[in-house]
Amino acid sequence: MDFPGSDLTELPGLDMLHAPAGIIAEAQAKAAGIFGAEESFFLVNGATVGNQALLLALPDTGPVLVSRAAHRSVFSGLILSGHRVTYARPVIHPEFNLPLGLETDEIIGAWAGAAACYVTYPTYYGSCCDLEALLKARDEDFPRLPVLVDQAHGAHYLGALFPPGALALGADAAVHSTHKTLSALTQGAMLHVQGQRLDRARLRQGLELLQTSSPSYLLLASLEQGADSALVQGHWEELRLEVEQIHRGLEGRLRLLDAKDEQTLGIAQVDWSKILVNTRPLGISAPVCVEFLRRRFGIEPELWDHENILFLLGIGSTPADVRLLRRGLESLLEPEFRHEAGVRSGVGFGKSNRLKPVLPAMLLPPLPPQRLTPRQAFFSKKRLVPLSESLGHTSGETISPYPPGIPVVVMGEILTEEVLELLRSEEERLWQGWERAGEKRIWIVEDD
Ligand SMILES: Cc1ncc(COP(=O)(O)O)c(C=O)c1O
Repeated sequence: MDFPGSDLTELPGLDMLHAPAGIIAEAQAKAAGIFGAEESFFLVNGATVGNQALLLALPDTGPVLVSRAAHRSVFSGLILSGHRVTYARPVIHPEFNLPLGLETDEIIGAWAGAAACYVTYPTYYGSCCDLEALLKARDEDFPRLPVLVDQAHGAHYLGALFPPGALALGADAAVHSTHKTLSALTQGAMLHVQGQRLDRARLRQGLELLQTSSPSYLLLASLEQGADSALVQGHWEELRLEVEQIHRGLEGRLRLLDAKDEQTLGIAQVDWSKILVNTRPLGISAPVCVEFLRRRFGIEPELWDHENILFLLGIGSTPADVRLLRRGLESLLEPEFRHEAGVRSGVGFGKSNRLKPVLPAMLLPPLPPQRLTPRQAFFSKKRLVPLSESLGHTSGETISPYPPGIPVVVMGEILTEEVLELLRSEEERLWQGWERAGEKRIWIVEDD
């Protein structure tokens, strides 16, 4: 592509993202056809802006039900929209120590009075909750309730190789991060909608409010191609066969999330194109394995924590990439690596780790009571206090240990003893959203 030559904006002969009537309208209509939507919107600020706009489109008739493990764009969407919120607790998988599941019964039980239900499907790690059961229950018992799906990591869900897409199951909206698994440029994403439950005019207004008035045609053109790339299925079949070899080769030696985990712990299906490896059975921490894979094989994972490594496949992955990954993972089982990792000299699990383990208690602490909505807290006057003086005050920050990024406290919630105990822990870790973590000081809402 001729980059400078294609870096156009809203010139005559082109189109307007916020009022499309020409080539953007055509490309969006084509994408809607491909993904089974009534209407599709191209997004130039990632799935992030899709989540935010969907929340803006909801009426204030009750709290929005969202998983506590939702992406931060859902939390920022709550600030923008001002909605009240009820959280569903994800199921933490005891072997991976990650929020992989969602109990549908718990979610359905919280629907009465809710304005909408927001679900992440799949999770970053490729686990899918039972969205089909949720939507069936919605149709039977709460037919007016919009069910909105953050399908950021499942833009490629077309055809029989993958779990069904959210729209095919009857969701009102699905946000795709097209740039993650399909062929769009980074930031390129799509929002797909169907049915009457969402106020589309308000949704369009929300998108206009949040997105640039100078969308990049490079990005938009890449989204058009990204939609087409979803139709290429043979390539995925080849990858799937290679991934099966990985599972076969590592069976019983490394713990991988796989089809055997389906129908357990709030997981209905597993997307094979995300390869989640738990290194605990090796007795070697994930960061040590990651370093080895990078140095020896040039393999760069998507994400890792203390004990898990996540590898993602996308439209650009090749069977050779998967074979290389297989060689890399198998070499973790060999004596040479164990020697190199210094297991014998005591540098095993729990030592030499750049990332400290996220304690199970941190993954899912008791939900603190909410005093203010996230928006009220955001716009309140705040002051910075030492953690030791913050008990009982209202948090002015949303703080999550990362990965996996589930908030210990969301702004507007009360800083309870349990929350403080987790924030006080001496371990150095990566905190998202905590500005003065190093000083152990926290923003609280003034005069509450
Ligand atoms: C579940 C989920 N939703 C939404 C997003 C935001 O996607 P984007 O980076 O396209 O804005 C992410 C990003 O990683 C995510 O993991």
